Amino acid sequence: MKKQINIAIDGPAGAGKSTVAKLVAEKLSYIYIDTGAMYRSLTYKAISNGVDVNDGKALLNLLNGLEINLINKNGKQLIVVNDADVTEEIRTPAVTNQVSYVAKHSEIRREMVKRQQQLANIGGTVMDGRDIGTHVLPDAEVKVFLTASVDERARRRHEEQLAKGQQSNLEILKEEIRRRDKIDSEREVAPLVKAEDAVEINSTAMKITEVVEAILSLVNEREATKQ
Ligand code: CDP
Ligand code: CDP
Repeated sequence: MKKQINIAIDGPAGAGKSTVAKLVAEKLSYIYIDTGAMYRSLTYKAISNGVDVNDGKALLNLLNGLEINLINKNGKQLIVVNDADVTEEIRTPAVTNQVSYVAKHSEIRREMVKRQQQLANIGGTVMDGRDIGTHVLPDAEVKVFLTASVDERARRRHEEQLAKGQQSNLEILKEEIRRRDKIDSEREVAPLVKAEDAVEINSTAMKITEVVEAILSLVNEREATKQ
């Protein structure tokens, strides 16, 4: 049997990380790990419990009492926090608008990274986020930095929301994406940057299937050079 490797996919909001990571994991029979869902889960609990997103200590105290499980069921990933399914709740605009503040705290990142590394310690994972190639899995065999223009990323989110029958405003989405990119890229701890050894894929004009193929080729190349 082939050795199972780890694949890190980082990049800004709406670049297509979770969509392609899920498909790559399916193709390889690997486990997909959505690290953004972990930060979103904590943010959701902070909002529900009235914990200040600027208070790192209070957030850590809250996180210490949370068991966050990512469960793959029938091709979907369910996010379960202390036995409650929060898959839908963690995607609301309220959570999206606060999550980057929660993710700024060093004590929160330390604990999240520890949990994420435990999930990947036997290999065979496709993990997506902002700091996977740089901090969580610096030894990942394949690292991808997935980007797309702000206009295209906002357009994708807009289409996604309309398809779900939700209200959506393209200009507001653009602003939100720019704001989140800025906070994520400028924070002191583990900012969103391309790892030196990551391959950048600009997906602005690419179809989902083309991005998946590009990543699978990188996996094949990596396997060929190891033998
Ligand atoms: O799916 P989307 O790109 O909207 O975001 P996400 O992957 O769900 O991540 C939500 C937020 O969590 C990001 O904007 C970051 O602030 C934070 N995050 C992070 O700091 N580090 C990660 N490894 C993953 C997410
Ligand atoms: O995880 P991330 O925030 O990077 O993006 P995503 O949630 O995977 O993708 C955002 C939306 O863009 C989804 O509706 C995808 O179907 C769509 N997408 C696309 O249209 N073309 C691509 N090459 C990648 C994603």
